[in-house]
Amino acid sequence: MSDTAPVPLSLTLGEPTGVTLDPDLWGIFLEDINWSLDGGLNAELLRNGDFEFTHADRPGWGPLTAWQHTGEVEIRTEDPVHPHNGTYVRLTGPVTLTNEGFDAIRVEAGARYRFSAFTWRVQGVGEAALAIVDAAGEPLAQATLATPEGGWHEASLDLVAERGGLGRLRVTVPRGLTLELDALSLRPCGSDGEPLTFRQDLVDTLRALEPSFVRFPGGCVAHGLGLGNLYHWKQTVGPREERVPSFNTWGYHQSRQIGYLEYFELCELLGATPMPIVAAGVSCQNLRGRAACIPMEDMPAYVQDILDLVEFANGGPDTRWGARRAELGHPEPFGLRWLGLGNEDEITRDFEVRYAMVAEALASQHPEVTVIGTAGPQPFGPDFERGWEFAREQRVAVVDEHAYRTPRWFHQNLDRYDDYDREGPAVYFGEYAARTNSVRSALAEAAFMITMERNGDIVRLASYAPLLARLGTTQWVPDLIYFDADDVLPSASYHVQRMFSVERGEAVVDVALEGETHVPVPPRPAGNVRLAAPGARVRVDDASIDGAPVAPVEVGESEVELGAIGADGVVELTATRVEGSEGMIVRLGGTGTDDFLQVDLGSWQNKTTVVHSFADGISNDIDGPYAHPGMSTDVPMRVRIALDGPRIRVWVDDELRHDLVEDRRPEQRVVAGCTVRTAEDGTREHVLRLVNATDRPRRATFALPEGGAALRGVATVLAGADPDAGQPFEASPVEPREVAIDLAAGEPWEIPAWSFTVAVLRAG
Ligand code: AHR
Repeated sequence: MSDTAPVPLSLTLGEPTGVTLDPDLWGIFLEDINWSLDGGLNAELLRNGDFEFTHADRPGWGPLTAWQHTGEVEIRTEDPVHPHNGTYVRLTGPVTLTNEGFDAIRVEAGARYRFSAFTWRVQGVGEAALAIVDAAGEPLAQATLATPEGGWHEASLDLVAERGGLGRLRVTVPRGLTLELDALSLRPCGSDGEPLTFRQDLVDTLRALEPSFVRFPGGCVAHGLGLGNLYHWKQTVGPREERVPSFNTWGYHQSRQIGYLEYFELCELLGATPMPIVAAGVSCQNLRGRAACIPMEDMPAYVQDILDLVEFANGGPDTRWGARRAELGHPEPFGLRWLGLGNEDEITRDFEVRYAMVAEALASQHPEVTVIGTAGPQPFGPDFERGWEFAREQRVAVVDEHAYRTPRWFHQNLDRYDDYDREGPAVYFGEYAARTNSVRSALAEAAFMITMERNGDIVRLASYAPLLARLGTTQWVPDLIYFDADDVLPSASYHVQRMFSVERGEAVVDVALEGETHVPVPPRPAGNVRLAAPGARVRVDDASIDGAPVAPVEVGESEVELGAIGADGVVELTATRVEGSEGMIVRLGGTGTDDFLQVDLGSWQNKTTVVHSFADGISNDIDGPYAHPGMSTDVPMRVRIALDGPRIRVWVDDELRHDLVEDRRPEQRVVAGCTVRTAEDGTREHVLRLVNATDRPRRATFALPEGGAALRGVATVLAGADPDAGQPFEASPVEPREVAIDLAAGEPWEIPAWSFTVAVLRAG
């Protein structure tokens, strides 16, 4: 048989297993990361239109970030439009003030753009000129801005583009006129002539996913860096100038133009149910290693804020917050049913006490809402264990698990949910991705999603994360959908998500597979010991490998080779930081980019130790992070690492910090799952899903249910690309295509190499 000849595979479609799927199973995760909102979903074309950027957003940023000017521009804070929007500008003509938008403002010929701002005529006569100008300063669209006398005035006017192109918004104030300006906005108008809230092509891309729910606002943004950065929903509703902008934990600015009302409206647009995630009374623990906690005396008010959020979503117009929603233009309730409490929090006593207060209040006052608990950032480890234990104690309905792992991890863990306790809480697999954006990763996710369906009695909800990333402004990869100002670039993972979401079954059917389904993971190959110290310079002496001394070296950013080590071996060294603020990395075995171990001595701002394993050039943290005082300049650190086949032990200053056995189980690469549903015409349909994440096609034969009657229908197939094609910041190298399927018992069907197939089949 040649290397590309199909491998036989037999599938037996059996009877329903009794597992039914939650109709909410597949949803989306929307966090303001990677400029997903401002510069993304937010249709606003101006950046920093309210002059509220500060150095807290990012060092070097301030009120005039994204603006250029000629002439006299004064930054002012007296008598602002609103105390929440405290900074504005005074322009004393002649002056021009130009906003560059989010890397230029795209205008289309003939299109209408709504400009609005607060203006105050301070003195003089005349009108300001407004124009969207091209690179040569020539107008693409223009209008005049008249400001009556007497305090802040809310201006609103439309500019219609005479020409299309890339532009900037320019305000020109003539000599003799002094004007103050704040809260400038420029939005494209929709077909109804009204300014758009959301960028249309991104909304269309999300709508095509047919998500059941939208998680928001995070992720880390939900609990923020410190109490001042907690996402308080009330700060995000109402007129724009009354909203409270904030620094974004991902290193930029949140204008809050897309606040809670817009989020609920987005859910409505997408036909999805909302799933707010609120802080459990504590901030993110990654702030100098400790979460900030809302003082107990302030907790009743915080609990009330969360109850008010539910009332804002669900309350009738006769309730205080339901009336507020109606006043803001949405009398109909949003039907909130899910609410997440906490995100990846360290499970401390402080967390538990606060969590319980909020959960109790919600249970007694809003039984219509199911609260989702949290189990740390990793799919294992201390917070995961304690998070689950606490969830069981609290009788939490659903627990949010997260896993950003290698494709190998997903293929090795397809049995993860088979043995979960069916009596305890259910699972929301709330953030996951197989790194990074390749076809291989997308297929690993598809394989895992099949097993989530198979375990639909325990896995009730799932969402890939993160959802959106603007090119050039990304803090996290991989992401589901990349975009720039003009284009939307869905990844291969996007197609996988869509192939699950648009064709859902109701009840799981047993599928038995026979054939070559697993790929072995060979023992880790021998290789070199390699050292690096990004962010520091470290002297290494008293070093040995397997007892043989090694000459002293100095290590910096670039990797330094210390010597060869086998699958079993011992490295010992003394590392002394000479300068810098970070620690050191030791890499062991394997080849340059593949299949090696990495021990971080002072990762995460020199605060932890971690062991990683690299597969397919991608890293998984497999033990830790465990808190550590880190490396200090001029303080020697004695390190001993012993490899014993898959067992790895790491001692730091004679303390055993890591002792683990690396998972080298085979990967299941050929996976099948099946559900059934009743179509609108009453016919029973099978939704069959097949992953072949190997380089050989499978020649599949089927034993069919229902008396062996042939199954016919249409299959959507994602195939045809190199498994390693598809990188972050690119569109998927492969698109799904449809083929007709006719399955008679015993008739073969060829499943392509590196493919994912979803077939919707009917008997007859
Ligand atoms: O999805 C990106 C980040 O990953 C989320 O904000 C956080 O919850 C997780 O660590």
